[in-house]
Formats: sequence, C-alpha cells, structure tokens
Amino acid sequence: MSITIKTQEEIEKMRVAGRLAAEVLEMIEPFIKPGVTTDEINTICHDYMVNEQDVIPAPLNYHGFPKSICTSVNYVVCHGIPNNKPLKNGDIVNLDITVIKDGYHGDTSKMFYVGNVAPHAQRLCEVTLECLYKGMALVKPGARLGDIGHVIQKHAEANHYSVVREYCGHGIGIGFHEDPQVVHYGTPGTGVELQEGMCFTIEPMINAGKRHVKTLKRDGWTVETLDKRLSAQWEHTLLVTADGFEALTKRKDETF
Ligand code: MF3
Ligand code: CO
Ligand code: CO
Repeated sequence: MSITIKTQEEIEKMRVAGRLAAEVLEMIEPFIKPGVTTDEINTICHDYMVNEQDVIPAPLNYHGFPKSICTSVNYVVCHGIPNNKPLKNGDIVNLDITVIKDGYHGDTSKMFYVGNVAPHAQRLCEVTLECLYKGMALVKPGARLGDIGHVIQKHAEANHYSVVREYCGHGIGIGFHEDPQVVHYGTPGTGVELQEGMCFTIEPMINAGKRHVKTLKRDGWTVETLDKRLSAQWEHTLLVTADGFEALTKRKDETF
C-alpha cells in the first residue's frame, strides 16, 4: 500500500467524518458515571451514530470486532470490548470512536474519569494527552514521523512512564488503517516525510509501569498491560496543511 494525498473534495469529507466522531465523545460525556456498564455506553453511542448522525460505526464487525466502540478500562491498553460490568468510582476509561461518513473515516479517543480518580491515575491521563499534543505540534510538511515518535517517547519516559510498541497511529481515509504506520517512539530525522494533504492519526498508549502487553486469548481483542498497571490513550485524526495541521476530531473542550 502507499500513502494517499487527499484531494480538496476528500478533505471536506474527512472534516465531516472527523467532526462527527468528536461529537460522539462530546455527547457521551454526561453518561460516564459509576454504575453504568460499557455495554450501555456502547448502545448509547451506537444508537446516536446510526440514528442521529447517519454514520457507520467502523469497529462493528471490523475483522470480527463485536461492538460499535472500544472501551478500555484501567489496565486495558486498547481494543476493550464493551461488556456488562459496571464502571466503578475511581476507574479511568478510554472510549475510542471511529465513524464512516460518506465513505471516509474519523477516528478519535479520549480518557474519561469515573467519579473521583486518584491523583496518580489523573496524572497518567494528563501526561498522555500532553504526549499527543507534543506530537501534533510537530506536524507540518517536511517534518518526519520519527520526530513525532521521539517527542512522545521523550515526554512519556521523562515522567517515568513507558510507550506501548505493538500498536500505533495510522493513515486514514477511505481505509480505516492506511499507510503510514505512526509509531509513538523513535529517532528524529527518520521515517516518512510529511506532505500537505496527508491524513493520519496519532494515538499514544502510555503505561504507568512496563511497556509490555498481552492480548487476551479468551476474546482475541482485549489488550492489557502485562504488569496490570494502568494505561492511558488519546487519539486525534489530523490533516497536514501547508503550514501545520488541522485536528479533524477537535472537541469543544480543546483550546489548541
Ligand atoms: N479505533 C482503533 C484505532 O484507533 C481501532 C479499533 S479496531 C477495532 O485504530 F476493531 F477494535 F475496533
Ligand atoms: Co486509530
Ligand atoms: Co481509534
């Protein structure tokens, strides 16, 4: 496969898809409370996407994924499957939303706090968001993907956290996961050179403990930290513009 440069018409469709994905995260916010199950959150998001937004929830049946969103709680790194277990006070949960609108994908995720969350867990979530923002800030034509990976790794490790290696950001468009792979570690001045019109995600997964992960054999999807310590993730879909980037999945609560 190769990296596609989006046309003006495609960029407009990517903007629409990105905004719709962001709006799902804005819509679901007030529902994230102790006692709600991730299945209930999945159903609310599914119905909103299908009935209000007229979009396709991209995860549903994607390589056999059984639900419409990913819900990754505490030491789940990514690809958590919504289930009937209630969220409890102090949990942190990532909701990862991907919509398809008019053939194009918008992909975004954020961390939510369930009730009162311990300061160490809040700090992991905050530093992981900073990792995403530091990576985004480097996006412009001529920058290299290694620059982005490096700044993310540096910030995570300076805070005594680790970067998950097995999963990465990705090109996005007509395809859910297009080239290039956007890893969240690396060396400045290496890797793909960015060009105006590229669209890709940055979605760092940062662990409080060691970087190693395992996929549950039981369901083939859920990725957990091996040491069962917390993991956090945030994701945006980005467009490379002439002089920087546009965050296609920017939410109202964000000020960059
Ligand atoms: N949304 C995830 C990503 O950011 C991919 C989820 S694939 C699924 O790339 F099948 F688990 F939904
Ligand atoms: Co993604
Ligand atoms: Co995603």
